[in-house]
Amino acid sequence: MGLVTQPLREEHKELISHIEALRAVADSIGEVPRGTLRRSVDDAYTFLANHLIPHAQAEERVLYPAVGALLGAPEATATMSQDHIAIGRLIDELKALRTRLSADPVSDADLKDLRRVLYGLYTLISVHFSKEEDVYLPLLDAKLSPEEARRLFTAMGQTAQAAHAQHGGKASSREH
Ligand SMILES: [Fe+2]
Ligand SMILES: [Fe+2]
Repeated sequence: MGLVTQPLREEHKELISHIEALRAVADSIGEVPRGTLRRSVDDAYTFLANHLIPHAQAEERVLYPAVGALLGAPEATATMSQDHIAIGRLIDELKALRTRLSADPVSDADLKDLRRVLYGLYTLISVHFSKEEDVYLPLLDAKLSPEEARRLFTAMGQTAQAAHAQHGGKASSREH
């Protein structure tokens, strides 16, 4: 029998492959030509702005309120929202570093910051995903009917799409 949260688990699996790539890019600093690094950082930032932020916004607006209601305490998810804020700050730092990578030569301090930000994002997002999957999703699987889960994920999809149109539009227009 399938779990009612399977669609969200699938979405996480797809996102996680890109999160693994953040660590690989951090590992590659100093090992690959500057142009290759610049392209990898561009790809990483585009993924975070266009996919991860809309995903987090859909959770803030739809998933976390549902979890809070099931737990009978809306503030129960505040610690997870704090993770989203910390992730957002690191994404902002990555965005600033990304433009500084076009300098020639790139400063050692910027490369050090880039490594810290990429490893930081990798660790923070990996742990955050585990918390959602190991704590929140089993709760939803136990309490939601398939119909309630379907409605929840449809609402999440709509919210993520609207956020994507906002953030994604901005991220790609800045690229060209
Ligand atoms: Fe999240
Ligand atoms: Fe998530």
